[in-house]
Amino acid sequence: MTQTGTAQIGVTGLAVMGSNLARNFAHHGYTVALHNRSIAKTDALLAEHGSEGTFVRSETIAEFLDALEKPRRVIIMVKAGDPTDAVINELADAMEPGDIIIDGGNALYTDTIRREKAIRERGLHFVGAGISGGEEGALNGPSIMPGGPAESYKSLGPLLEEISAHVDGVPCCTHIGPDGAGHFVKMVHNGIEYSDMQLIGEAYQLLRDGLGLEAGQIADVFSEWNKGDLDSYLVEITAEVLRQVDAKTGKPLVDVIVDEAEQKGTGRWTVKSALDLGVPVTGIAEAVFARALSGSVAQRKAAFRGERSDGKGQGLASGELGAAPTDAPQFIEDVRKALYASKIIAYAQGFNQIQAGSAEYNWGITLGDMATIWRGGCIIRAKFLNRIKEAYDDDPDLATLIAAPYFRDAVEAGIDSWRRVVVKATELGIPVPGFASALSYYDALRTERLPAALTQGLRDFFGAHTYGRTDAPEGQKFHTLWSGDRSEVEA
Ligand code: 6PG
Repeated sequence: MTQTGTAQIGVTGLAVMGSNLARNFAHHGYTVALHNRSIAKTDALLAEHGSEGTFVRSETIAEFLDALEKPRRVIIMVKAGDPTDAVINELADAMEPGDIIIDGGNALYTDTIRREKAIRERGLHFVGAGISGGEEGALNGPSIMPGGPAESYKSLGPLLEEISAHVDGVPCCTHIGPDGAGHFVKMVHNGIEYSDMQLIGEAYQLLRDGLGLEAGQIADVFSEWNKGDLDSYLVEITAEVLRQVDAKTGKPLVDVIVDEAEQKGTGRWTVKSALDLGVPVTGIAEAVFARALSGSVAQRKAAFRGERSDGKGQGLASGELGAAPTDAPQFIEDVRKALYASKIIAYAQGFNQIQAGSAEYNWGITLGDMATIWRGGCIIRAKFLNRIKEAYDDDPDLATLIAAPYFRDAVEAGIDSWRRVVVKATELGIPVPGFASALSYYDALRTERLPAALTQGLRDFFGAHTYGRTDAPEGQKFHTLWSGDRSEVEA
């Protein structure tokens, strides 16, 4: 075969993400070997975009691998789950020691840990790489979070860095850490994405139901916000989505979209992992549950505050609702500040989860680097990531982002607005689980004495679970003889 060993990179799985990634490599001058389970997709890509660079068509895995220079670098872009294992095994069976398999899908990091170990034992390298930025990012520069062996990054890193987004000349790609580190970080990225979107949704609803603004007017508010601290991809596209008019009805598109949010699982994974790690990612959890609640159709119908659809009278009561805000500009500014403060909390929690994951799995993740590579390319790219990077550069062991001077000041500057918004939303019966739980998290972290002391007392009462004392060394445990003479003993 004439094209043996000519391709620097191979992509298997040519749905839109895989195709766009392959084209991105080709645009950067790399020869890209293409493979897909059905050749039709490969041919469609070649027919439409074959002239954009140098591609090598292959029908079988054997041809695909033959087209690659050694050590081979193959990116798998298939749906996470069982299909990934099947493709990995097929590749691994035919590959040679030193070759690198890269899983660019949204794989669960524990799967990546398992796969990396199995592949390493076969003398190959396995890199679980989180890739964010959707279709557009894959084509023009995503944020890339590769895990796996540091050694494989030496050969793979330069290619990935080249095709990634760049901010101030710095690539949005770095080696995250061993085995599952890359996919773990991508998972938390998605959790933050959920949280960010939930908070944006709450801000939208406050302006819609609290002030009675139309979608187009709210779009203008978001466009304005995007010029300041909230400058971010998600705020920018919120304005675009709100401005879209439905061709069929002439109404704002958002008003004809069914209000049931779906999810593919990465947000849920983030929360499950946070539960295991004991990290309170309340913003992400609220966002995942808010999506679940929106899809709880039977419950929503049964509880709806208007007429019940089954004709059995009224739904559940709302209580006495307060009046709409009278000073609209002030309310809009309050919502902006509440959104920014809640967003800071969401990121603070997400970074804490990465910190905890890194400690648990010995990944040695540098938090400032995560902020750096999220500045461009990815869905949660935002101007304030520069500030997060600075905060972790100043103090790599920062306990929480909100203790860093910039963020402390930013939250303090918005705290009155934040409280007013949560109070007003409560009075108006507008659900704000994201704003309210972020505020409670902030207040809880700053509370000198939490009711956890009582929780410990109760646990000791019914189950002799013991407690620590404020006046005893840490780690020393005590128990009160509740059913005896109620004296205290050391446990
Ligand atoms: C990204 C996105 C991407 C995907 C989400 C959507 O970083 O490019 O996060 O991975 O669009 O997984 O997730 P849901 O379908 O669960 O909302």
